[in-house]
Amino acid sequence: MKRAFTILGLALLAIAAQSCRKYSADEGDAPDQPIAFYHSVHAGQNNIPCMYCHYTADRSVDAGIPAVQVCVGCHVPGSSAPGAVASQASLAFPTAQRDTFWNRNANLLVDYWKRGAAVPWVRIHKIPEHAKFPHFMHVNAGLQCQTCHGPVQEMKKVYQFSSLRMGWCIECHRGQTPLSAAEEASVRERSSFIRRVRELRAAGHDVAGVAATRPNQRASTDCVACHY
Ligand code: HEC
Ligand code: HEC
Ligand code: HEC
Ligand code: HEC
Ligand code: HEC
Repeated sequence: MKRAFTILGLALLAIAAQSCRKYSADEGDAPDQPIAFYHSVHAGQNNIPCMYCHYTADRSVDAGIPAVQVCVGCHVPGSSAPGAVASQASLAFPTAQRDTFWNRNANLLVDYWKRGAAVPWVRIHKIPEHAKFPHFMHVNAGLQCQTCHGPVQEMKKVYQFSSLRMGWCIECHRGQTPLSAAEEASVRERSSFIRRVRELRAAGHDVAGVAATRPNQRASTDCVACHY
């Protein structure tokens, strides 16, 4: 009985997911955010590194969305958020002379901060609960954020660039997705999967079969690597 419910649940989920997917992976579908925060201004024009804000991407499953405190470090003079650079703080703080759209949005930020409230950002990327995606494994292997997320530094509103479908994951794990020369070299050196195959070969095991079917494989394609 319980199993029947689970299967029914999965089927309904699949239908729900199908109908949602039609609306993703397109710039026009980027949701409105509570503050018009532009990646093009921050990561683009001002060259703020992605990991200044998404600072858990290399040590956690989630890349993380920065707390108000991180924003305030640059936007409210005299605040002392970790890593805040004083010169940038004065640059970034909106003044009366500035474009009113920017001012209005920067003031929204100050309001959240004064109220001690978190900004209710709308989440854009989400794979289903039955699958897992560890950011740190990918970032530490040397993949660039843009390989999966596209040219975020040019986006005003972030949109979903890749399908995030299972086939997309598998294609890269099998080594079929082309990477830049620098990324490919880094993955060859740092992937624990490639290291394991190399160690097995060195220990005298026959890995010719694996190597022959997928000579460029970069990561595991076992179901349990990605599914709970
Ligand atoms: C100044 C801080 C800051 C910097 C720098 C920054 N981001 Fe973000 N990022 C945010 C905030 C805040 C959000 C949530 C609001 C939004 O979606 O725009 C976000 C959202 C995102 C999302 C969507 C998250 C979701 O909901 O699925 C992605 C992907 C992303 N950032 C990637 C990047 C990349 C890649 C870079 C570097 C090119 C970068 N970010 C630089 C603050 C930053
Ligand atoms: C490392 C410093 C830094 C951090 C951290 C930072 N900003 Fe900014 N921000 C800037 C700079 C620089 C500008 C451009 C200001 C200018 O040119 O006058 C800017 C501009 C803005 C603007 C106006 C342009 C736009 O994007 O709409 C808003 C709103 C804004 N920031 C909100 C935020 C929010 C929200 C966060 C936290 C998620 C944040 N900022 C984090 C430096 C920063
Ligand atoms: C190999 C592809 C890949 C790379 C590389 C990658 N991401 Fe992601 N990112 C994803 C996927 C897939 C999701 C959805 C994960 C989920 O739903 O659990 C995601 C979700 C996110 C989110 C939203 C939620 C969260 O906290 O995880 C942010 C923010 C983000 N990525 C930022 C980044 C940044 C910044 C980098 C580079 C430092 C990066 N990503 C590198 C594939 C990637
Ligand atoms: C652009 C290439 C690329 C894409 C796209 C990609 N991955 Fe990966 N993945 C890698 C690499 C490289 C590694 C590191 C392999 C290692 O160190 O063993 C990895 C590692 C992993 C691991 C850890 C495996 C282990 O042996 O512990 C999981 C889980 C994973 N990826 C899930 C996903 C999922 C889920 C998606 C899609 C939502 C995805 N990946 C998309 C390249 C990619
Ligand atoms: C590299 C990561 C990865 C591996 C390996 C992987 N999957 Fe998946 N799988 C995903 C992701 C991400 C999703 C959710 C996105 C989607 O539905 O395409 C998914 C979805 C699914 C679904 C739901 C499909 C749907 O349309 O709702 C099934 C069933 C599934 N996987 C079975 C498997 C089986 C069986 C294996 C082993 C042969 C496997 N997966 C290996 C990442 C992976």
